[in-house]
Amino acid sequence: MKKNKKTEYNDNADNIEMTETNAYKNFEDYKSEYNEYDDEETRIVSTKYHDDDSNSEGSLRPKNLKEYIGQDKVKDQLKIFIDAAKARNETLDHVLLYGPPGLGKTTLAAIIAEEMGVNLRVTSGPAIEKQGDLVAILTGLTDGDVLFIDEIHRLSRVIEEVLYPSMEDFVYDFIIGKGPSARSIRLDLPKFTLVGATTRAGQLTAPLRDRFGVILRLDLYTHEQLATIVKRSAAILGVEIDESGAVEIASRSRGTPRIANRILKRVRDFAQVRGGGVINGDIADKALNMLEIDKLGLDSTDRRMLEAIIKFFDGGPVGLDTLAATINEESVTLEDVYEPFLMQVGFLNRTPRGRCATRGAYEHLKMEYKQNNYLSQISLLDDGEKN
Ligand SMILES: Nc1ncnc2c1ncn2[C@@H]1O[C@H](COP(=O)(O)OP(=O)(O)OP(=O)(O)O)[C@@H](O)[C@H]1O
Ligand SMILES: [Mg+2]
Repeated sequence: MKKNKKTEYNDNADNIEMTETNAYKNFEDYKSEYNEYDDEETRIVSTKYHDDDSNSEGSLRPKNLKEYIGQDKVKDQLKIFIDAAKARNETLDHVLLYGPPGLGKTTLAAIIAEEMGVNLRVTSGPAIEKQGDLVAILTGLTDGDVLFIDEIHRLSRVIEEVLYPSMEDFVYDFIIGKGPSARSIRLDLPKFTLVGATTRAGQLTAPLRDRFGVILRLDLYTHEQLATIVKRSAAILGVEIDESGAVEIASRSRGTPRIANRILKRVRDFAQVRGGGVINGDIADKALNMLEIDKLGLDSTDRRMLEAIIKFFDGGPVGLDTLAATINEESVTLEDVYEPFLMQVGFLNRTPRGRCATRGAYEHLKMEYKQNNYLSQISLLDDGEKN
């Protein structure tokens, strides 16, 4: 029955643009296309995916929930949902993963498919341009498959609306012809699990968000978790590293496994040339200093951002766009890549009127602290609310 409908669609596809499926067949094809943040490419503590990562990111990627370090809450929940779905012999509910780049969303999507014992199909929001792209992807799935849509916030509105019935009832409605001869055809789709990933959950429309049964937020990792990840990666790469080396790298990786792995590789080079191949705390420290990554993991761009707020805007508040223009970066990059970490270490405040540098930032940059009237006003208000 399903087959017939599919044929019908193909025969009548004259006014729908059918294109080759945009679903990537594997991670390698996918990653080679996923490299649009060129300005970020050379920055070692960038959370964005580097070309350089492609050699090892696959092998360093944990393959199942057991190997996946940290994010315990997320793992616990997923485990329950997966076990329950398997016990009932059903497909898993749609899952939305969100959080800053490099924390393991793509990895987790692959793990979900692995744990469910089903196929994984990978695509991304910007890759699905036309309805035909989506139809080709959806009809190419088999029952139970995991369809991973990365950067799901970048789906166009039209595609999003087409996706709703597919997610809810596993059907796809489309209209053929125009005017009085137009007719609607309903196509049955395989029951699939959509796993969406986004760095900006706020940009998802409410109707799309509501169609995910499971919404999980990934948080930045603790130093201990990152040290474990570094040791695991070192073992896979065949690099010798001691505890102090792992801790040094972990504490300067901005809570992000992707950065930890990248730094590990740079430090490995350094250790090979200067340290007889073994990474210890001292070698790691020297290598990181050379890379201009400071004790907390801030690089020159982070420092430039904080310095600009302090020097040019008296510590803030300054609007994101103004700040971005001042230091010649894009606002989205500042918001997605730099801010989450600067806020986590308590150097930056996002206020209704813009960004403010905190006292901690002045102290870290060894700049003289001046009372920020706006910030003290806000904290007074906060206190008022609490009382
Ligand atoms: N929990 C983890 N344990 C061990 N390694 C991890 C973990 N999470 C991520 N990694 C490592 O970090 C790398 C980056 O993770 P991943 O590509 O899944 O991030 P992402 O959240 O999808 O990033 P983006 O938003 O840029 O797509 C992986 O190759 C993997 O080696
Ligand atoms: Mg990803």
